[in-house]
Amino acid sequence: MYRWLDERLSLSRLNKKFLRKAFPVHHSFFLGEITMFAFITLVLTGVFLSFNYEPSTRLIKHLGKEVPAAYASVLYIDSLPFGAVLRSVHHWSASIMIAAAFLHLLRILISGAYKKPREINWLLGLALLGLSVVTSFTGYSLPFDAFSVTATQIGYGIGASMPYMGEWISQLIFGGEYPTLHSIPRVYSLHVLWFPLLLAALIGAHMLVMLKQKHTQPAYAEKVAPGKILGVPMMPQQGFMMGVLFLLYLAVVFFIAGTWIAHPVEVFGPPTASTPAVKPDWYFIWIYGILQIIPGDLKVSLPFGAVMNSEFIGGVMIPGILGVVAVLLPFLDTRKTKLRYMELPTRHPVRTSVTFALLAFMLTTTLAGWKEEFGFSNGQLWAIIIISTLATYLVSYLIIISYWGRPPKGEAEEA
Ligand code: HEM
Repeated sequence: MYRWLDERLSLSRLNKKFLRKAFPVHHSFFLGEITMFAFITLVLTGVFLSFNYEPSTRLIKHLGKEVPAAYASVLYIDSLPFGAVLRSVHHWSASIMIAAAFLHLLRILISGAYKKPREINWLLGLALLGLSVVTSFTGYSLPFDAFSVTATQIGYGIGASMPYMGEWISQLIFGGEYPTLHSIPRVYSLHVLWFPLLLAALIGAHMLVMLKQKHTQPAYAEKVAPGKILGVPMMPQQGFMMGVLFLLYLAVVFFIAGTWIAHPVEVFGPPTASTPAVKPDWYFIWIYGILQIIPGDLKVSLPFGAVMNSEFIGGVMIPGILGVVAVLLPFLDTRKTKLRYMELPTRHPVRTSVTFALLAFMLTTTLAGWKEEFGFSNGQLWAIIIISTLATYLVSYLIIISYWGRPPKGEAEEA
């Protein structure tokens, strides 16, 4: 069979070109793969959901009550054999994809793998992370229960707050001012077709660039075989490891999803006139936290009558500044580097400490998302955020240089 296909498709040439590529042996390289497994799981479970979901807000009778058809169809999915678990696996995989992509980003950041010549893959990766978050957000609105409608309304408001073009972008995504009759069909098409296609195309480009440029090598490879690419071939060794890891991924995600059913629509109920108290999914809570503590009456006037309000400053501008810094990073950080080896975080105390400080900022702004529950005032929360961010930087820097010493002269310039 292989020979028959080989004669027609020259499989052995393809095999030599791509499937013998060496994969470095280092646990941190599995993070990108876990992100990919979560994406594949999302597509597979998404196909099942799309067979049974009804993208419509028209009212239908369900158990004697008038409810939106989209909401009733999610209750129907939950009643199917394995329906609730598969929906829960879909929800959990979205969270895992975002978490794994973020950890993968941190690994690239602290090992300097974003530097020349890998700028393109860094930018493709940022686009992937941004699009994964937006795709997840569009999925949130689909069950059309009380919780999801309110959470989507908050997101719609943040998008619409962008001066000049915010209303236009939000209405383009939601087919008008959310929620209109057209919102769900529009968001459904983006969520199940256009965004996954774009994600698949970006992942494909990300992988091609990586194959062309080869991975960075773990630092130990420099000692073992300097100047050589160390690793196991893509096929069969790495392929086998990836297969095992994918099965492990499925086992873990099915266990979690079966034990903690995500987003129980029957508990939230159909949308009502009153607004339930909702919090966004965990990866948005740091932004929600900033919005909780930023003065609500903050306004900056712009030309032609536009304003930057607190929603825009907290919800778009602050995360946007972090995004712009991330985009510019490989072009600003052009210090000489050993192209092929992962840099040790302990040899780059400034970069590593800034990364920890960023995490402290995100964790403490997440804490602000529970302002009401913890009973802190805005002033206390701002103090906690600023002090923890600065203290984390200082403490990590001091720990690194006292345990591992200052980097030697050549490397000190890089640090
Ligand atoms: C969201 C979907 C993403 C997927 C599916 C994905 C997948 C992968 C995979 C499988 C690898 C090879 C293994 C590894 O190095 O871990 C890789 C490498 C890489 N990724 Fe991603 N990635 C994603 C997001 C990101 C993000 C958010 C960034 C950073 C902004 C990024 C930047 C890179 C870079 C620079 C490399 C080459 C690393 C090296 O050679 O050491 N990726 N990606």
